[in-house]
Amino acid sequence: MRIELLFTPQQIDEMTLREKTVVAIDVLRASTTITTALHNGAREVIPAATVEAAVKIAGNLAGDVTLLAGERNARMIQGFHLGNSPLEYTPEKVRGKSIVFSSTNGAQVFAKGRMARELMVCSFVNITTVVEHLGAQPRDFTIICAGTNGSFSLEDSVCAGMVVHGLAEGNPDGLSLADGALASMTLYRSYGRSILKMLKTGEHGRLLEELGFGDDLAYCARVDAVPVLPVMDGNVLKLKRDAEKKDIAGPVS
Ligand code: MLT
Repeated sequence: MRIELLFTPQQIDEMTLREKTVVAIDVLRASTTITTALHNGAREVIPAATVEAAVKIAGNLAGDVTLLAGERNARMIQGFHLGNSPLEYTPEKVRGKSIVFSSTNGAQVFAKGRMARELMVCSFVNITTVVEHLGAQPRDFTIICAGTNGSFSLEDSVCAGMVVHGLAEGNPDGLSLADGALASMTLYRSYGRSILKMLKTGEHGRLLEELGFGDDLAYCARVDAVPVLPVMDGNVLKLKRDAEKKDIAGPVS
C-alpha cells in the first residue's frame, strides 16, 4: 500500500485525483465540524469553495431543510445560519438538514476532492474509524491536508501522521511511504502525546483561542469521540452507511 501526502490543497492535481482514494484532513475545524454534523443527524453536507457558490446552491434547495454554514477568518459569514464551531452543530439544529458549507481552507479540499475515486473526511474525532476503513481495503491512497491559507499546518500534519502510524502498526512491511508520509509520522511521534497541547501550540489554534473558540480546541482534540466515516457521494458528503443504503436501494425516482 503506497501512501502519498500533500501538505496543502494547492498541491492537488485535479486530473490525477480521478484514480485516487483521498483522506481529507482539516482538524481545525472543517473536518471535525462536518463529521459532527453528520453524526448528529444532518442529511448531507454540500461543500462550496466560495461564499457566492454556497448561496447559489442553497437558493436551489428547499429553504426549510437547508442551512448555510461556514466561516471566513474563522467567524460566521454574515447572513449564514451556522459558523464553523463543531459545538454549534447539535442534533436539535442539524437533524434532517442539508448543510451547504463553505470554509477558507477545508471546503477547498472537499470541493476539489469531488473528482476523487473515493474521498473520506478525517480528523482526530474519527481517526480510528478512518484507519480501520483504510486497513480493511488495502489500496494506495493520498492524504490531503487543508493547511492554512496555502501554508503547512501542524495539526493537519500530525493527524496525517497518526493515520500513517496507525496503519504502520498493523502492517509494518506492507507500506510504501512517500517522504511527506514519513515526515508526518515523525511529527505525530513527537507531538502525539497531547493532542490538545499540540492544537494550542499551532498558529491556527492560537488564533481560535484568541477569538474565544478555546472550547473548540478541546472538542477537536477528543480522539475517537465521533466514530463515523463521512465520504463523498457525488457532490455531497454523507455518512458511508447512508451512501451505501442508497446504492443498495438503487436511485430514488
Ligand atoms: C477552514 O476550513 O479554513 C477552517 O476550518 C477554519 C476555521 O477554523 O474556521
